[in-house]
Amino acid sequence: MKGIGMSVSIGPAEQTGLSLTRPFQLLIDGGWSDAQSGDVLDVINPADRKVLAQIPAAGGQDIDRAVRAARKAFEDGPWPAMPPGERAKLLWRIADLIEARKEEFAELETLDNGKPVTMSKWVDVPASIATLRYWSGWCTKIAGETRAVDMPGDYLAMTLREPIGVVGLITPWNFPLMSAVSKLGPALAAGCTVILKPAEQTSLTALRLGEVILEAGMPPGVVNIVTGLGSVAGAALAEHDGVDKISFTGSTAIGKSLIGAARGNLKRLTLELGGKSPTIILPDADLERAIAGAGNSIFRNSGQICVAGSRLYVARKQFDQVVGGLVKFAEQFKLGPGLDPATTMGPLVSDRQHERVLDYIGGARAEGASVITGGHGFGDAGYFVEPTIIGDVNPQMRVVQEEIFGPVLVATAVDDLDELGTLANDSIYGLSASIWTRDISTAYKLARKIRAGTITINSGSIAGPNLPFGGFKQSGWGRENGVDGIESFTELKTIITAL
Ligand code: NAI
Ligand code: MG
Repeated sequence: MKGIGMSVSIGPAEQTGLSLTRPFQLLIDGGWSDAQSGDVLDVINPADRKVLAQIPAAGGQDIDRAVRAARKAFEDGPWPAMPPGERAKLLWRIADLIEARKEEFAELETLDNGKPVTMSKWVDVPASIATLRYWSGWCTKIAGETRAVDMPGDYLAMTLREPIGVVGLITPWNFPLMSAVSKLGPALAAGCTVILKPAEQTSLTALRLGEVILEAGMPPGVVNIVTGLGSVAGAALAEHDGVDKISFTGSTAIGKSLIGAARGNLKRLTLELGGKSPTIILPDADLERAIAGAGNSIFRNSGQICVAGSRLYVARKQFDQVVGGLVKFAEQFKLGPGLDPATTMGPLVSDRQHERVLDYIGGARAEGASVITGGHGFGDAGYFVEPTIIGDVNPQMRVVQEEIFGPVLVATAVDDLDELGTLANDSIYGLSASIWTRDISTAYKLARKIRAGTITINSGSIAGPNLPFGGFKQSGWGRENGVDGIESFTELKTIITAL
């Protein structure tokens, strides 16, 4: 791979520059404020390690204020009582207002997270807009059912879907704006009020989204946006008894800790956690497409994708051909600052993630695996890691078992193809899998055998607000998106009337 633009400085557009000079504050009860303590966190540009901005570091008191505002807006405010068509218009308006500032949102996302601006512009921002429009349509379509009552007498029995209440939304740093709207959309469409706690590494677009939400005419307290450390602000939100549900996306370790935090008031939990997803390339696959698909799946967004295809399984007789193709695929990435339009792979999000990924690669070498391509950091300006492929692995190695969340693929040559299902399932995770073959029967048989929430056939990961998304096993609890996703923001009530 080549490095580009490392010495050329490419600045953001004027609107983004202005956005960076306006203060970033907490949005609570329709107003902007600093954290009560006055504490702030530096926001680091991962491409050059320079401080971009500062965000408030909220504490327990700020969280408490936000939860009270959301509770008031839920109990007394207009939101759950508003005609659903009015809620729909408001969500649609938010989408329009993001679209009007799409360049600023894309550039902020790139500066904050590191991802190539081509990706922010063509994936993150348009998908966020489309997601809000999708959920806007749901406001008028949430419905219960009528049921038969099998008792003597004449009855009418019905179910109602009611908003679950005050919801805490805790989001990660890999798709910051997308994660925020993917949770805000269904929560608001269902009539809930929310406290959004974005990841401390990437809170800028969430706070600018707050501006857009107010401009769209959102009543005070319906959406509160509170930035700060996960261990402080996130933990206070998760533990708060005034919160009825937490919808979380992040690490399996923190997901598990939320089970303890939910104990006090038995708040509901939706957990979208880690993965170690297999890509399986069968001998009859269209190898050219499979190689490109497998490469994109692990290297896109610098591998920081929960559904990344991080374990590759190929028949031994094709192993060298497929891995050779993937090495070429890896080498064509242009690493550089995300704002450079020629960049195709940006840095990792943070110092911590950079160190973590390089540690995994070092650990694999120490355990006797071989690094086929990549394997090092890149330049010294930012948190870059070369796209990396590791071979000579065995199923017990940490790089095969643990989520790395970086551009690192572990490749296994398979002797007995009947073992593929077992190999794919040899993981604590079950988020997704990709199968490449021209044999439809083999594809479906394997798809049924693999214990994972999403299976793609002859395609890398595909997602959309109408496609249920979530994990088996330790990849999480519950499903997001589509009807299942919105129902998880409702409580089901049964009303039985004797006629
Ligand atoms: P994390 O799980 O700590 O962070 C995710 C979110 O949880 C952030 O908003 C954070 O502020 C919040 N959080 C952290 N501690 C919390 C607590 N005690 N209570 C409530 N909220 C809390 O993830 P981290 O440390 O940033 O990344 C570590 C690893 O997690 C990554 O290497 C990757 O393997 C995995 N990860 C998975 C993601 C996914 O999409 N499933 C996204 C981000 C990370
Ligand atoms: Mg950042």
